[in-house]
Amino acid sequence: MIWASADVRGLAARAVATITITVLGLSVAGGRFLEAAGQQQASATPRPETFGFGRPATSDAIASLDIDVMPDGTGLPPGSGTSASGARTWGRACRGCRGCHGAEGGTAAAVVGRDPSGRPLTVGNFWSYATTLFDYINRAMPRPTPGTLTPDQVYGLVAWILAKNEIIAEDAAMNAETLPAVVMPARDRFVPDDRRGGPEVR
Ligand code: HEC
Repeated sequence: MIWASADVRGLAARAVATITITVLGLSVAGGRFLEAAGQQQASATPRPETFGFGRPATSDAIASLDIDVMPDGTGLPPGSGTSASGARTWGRACRGCRGCHGAEGGTAAAVVGRDPSGRPLTVGNFWSYATTLFDYINRAMPRPTPGTLTPDQVYGLVAWILAKNEIIAEDAAMNAETLPAVVMPARDRFVPDDRRGGPEVR
């Protein structure tokens, strides 16, 4: 009994000693680390003026990226197009939109449809601003080669999609004046979100 208890006490003492050494070891290592970090900071070379790559952004380069179109039409370029011209671009044999979206829209992403249930979501029942169509097609379509359409072609495609959705007349021309004036069927399905992030947000 005595032996056993002495043995246990010995083990416990050794364990405490090991823990203490480990803690000391850690704190010594930690001290060295902080010291090294301090030295590194002190000897760091000042940041250079330039890193020797890239080039200044030219106004042309900025203009090619600055293509956003606002709901009120700000950002729309000069140009014009009708549903008839849009139909030609839509159906172009190579890289046309029809290959992916179908004859009237519907395979890749439905662009035609007014079903108020919102199934499927389309330009006709979900998009709140007509100008977004210009922005989106101009920046993102046709999917394999975005950015290759002229403003006239984009206006034509916008006119074609709006006419197919029976939102504008077949012969209406879309341009920087007429497009922002188009009222989309889904305009009132959206309300401005003016919550400020306080308790009113759930
Ligand atoms: C290679 C296939 C492909 C081609 C070609 C293509 N699209 Fe698309 N398009 C897509 C896909 C896929 C989406 C869905 C993208 C997403 O949701 O991220 C889409 C989305 C769209 C939308 C948004 C639909 C919505 O309600 O969200 C419009 C509008 C559109 N395309 C128009 C066009 C027009 C106009 C052209 C021709 C200039 C074109 N697309 C060519 C594949 C294509």
